[in-house]
Amino acid sequence: MPEPVEFVVVANRLPVDLVTDDDGGSRWQAAPGGLVSAVAPALAGRRAAWVGWPGVPDAAPEPFADDAVGPEVTLYPVRLDADEVAAHYEGASNATLWPLYHDLIAAPVYDRGWWATHRAVNRRFAEAAAAVAAEGATVWVQDYQCQLVPSMLRELRPDLRIGFFLHIPFPPVELFRQLPWRREVVEGLLGADLVGFHTPGGAANFRRLAQQLCAAGIDDAPIGLREAIGEVHHGGRTVRVGAFPISIDSATFARRGADPDTAARARELRTELGDPATVLLGVDRLDYTKGIEVRLDAVGELLDSGRLDPRDTVFVQVATPSRERVDAYRRTRERVERTVGRINGEHAGIGRPAIHYVHRSLPHDELAALYLAADVALVTPLRDGMNLVAKEYVATRPDDSGDLVLSEFTGAAEELTAARLVNPHDLDGVVTAIADAVAGLGSEDSRRRMAQLSAQVAEHDVARWAEAFLTALEPSDVE
Ligand code: ADP
Ligand code: F6P
Repeated sequence: MPEPVEFVVVANRLPVDLVTDDDGGSRWQAAPGGLVSAVAPALAGRRAAWVGWPGVPDAAPEPFADDAVGPEVTLYPVRLDADEVAAHYEGASNATLWPLYHDLIAAPVYDRGWWATHRAVNRRFAEAAAAVAAEGATVWVQDYQCQLVPSMLRELRPDLRIGFFLHIPFPPVELFRQLPWRREVVEGLLGADLVGFHTPGGAANFRRLAQQLCAAGIDDAPIGLREAIGEVHHGGRTVRVGAFPISIDSATFARRGADPDTAARARELRTELGDPATVLLGVDRLDYTKGIEVRLDAVGELLDSGRLDPRDTVFVQVATPSRERVDAYRRTRERVERTVGRINGEHAGIGRPAIHYVHRSLPHDELAALYLAADVALVTPLRDGMNLVAKEYVATRPDDSGDLVLSEFTGAAEELTAARLVNPHDLDGVVTAIADAVAGLGSEDSRRRMAQLSAQVAEHDVARWAEAFLTALEPSDVE
């Protein structure tokens, strides 16, 4: 058994997934999503452990290291069998909690069997963390799939300092109360010393909920809660609650953007796209929360009305495959692909699509070249905890050119106020914002706003996020 460490990350997934190639060989590949993009750089240079699932059923490799997080971090795979993946990951995490926390864009499914497995898997994560953490170590638990871990871990190892960060929105109390296991989740989180959210609104929702579950006697909660600013008092302990807006490794994105190779690849991409006057770009996991259909509909209307000319405008939508066995994701993929087909059927020339649709993951350098090649980034989620793509686009562009259309319903909109903010439910508003962004490219106004956005992202980077969270997690003098 490797030596215990002072710092442990627990997340549903390891930062790398085990993938099997067509020739039957297997290899590790970067896992999708914002959590890995943010937590991996925060670990740079630390001796640490990362406990998580390797992304496929039944895999149980020995602990190992990977370049994704560097040689100092040991990755501890937690084995889940196929039934556990179905019940814990696809079921309770992504068909119950995900839609509930994203304002019911899809209807959550409440299944007692899934939840029992979810609980058992959370216990397995807690046990794995307890086994690798040194006496008095700090354990940083991540995201909605692991909300029961903090209290389970505290029971096993009261000596640990435990932090929890939620990477998705925390819903209003009125919605959260639907969850049949609401008290278990709140008590699970209150096992931490610090519970962090992206936005003050999320933190306030949680504090209100914790207070209500006690004060209103819902579920006869016997937990003694008293709300204070940024604190919840529970079981003789003080749990801090706060907002820590996550970010990106801004300097790395800026470096990639300034690299002549990236610029050369961006020029090449524009040539491959047929040298259009304007390139629009969307980059997301293929998820119904991301509002991919909203922007497709908006671009479709602009092409229909002639306000955008398909001979000199192309829209590139990169959509990483995600949660493909969950029904709502399958349906979203069908709808997106049907819409892309319809718009191309109506507006594409031979060999000259109006919409380029890429349904796969891309290497970092290629993504950076796309950010550079794009005149306008379209980020239109119906709901999103933060949205790192918006920040990555801004950070990559070296010269304050381009424009960002950004949904009000992202955490990023609270910081990136100089973007063209849109309500994704208001199709006319989205249509107008895209048309204005295209018409205003190169104007003094768009440069001034991009400069403002770029300064914001450069200053508030992921190192600052991690430092703020981990400093708040340190014990205070009065404890
Ligand atoms: P989420 O965490 O919901 O997936 P974010 O926008 O916060 O959404 O983070 C997505 C992350 O995944 C970003 O770091 C982005 O660069 C990365 N990403 C998204 N799509 C792709 C893709 N096709 N290839 C590579 N990386 C991608
Ligand atoms: O931030 C939301 C999140 O669910 C992360 O927990 C995860 O890393 C990412 O999106 C991708 O999701 P999944 O692990 O289900 O592919």
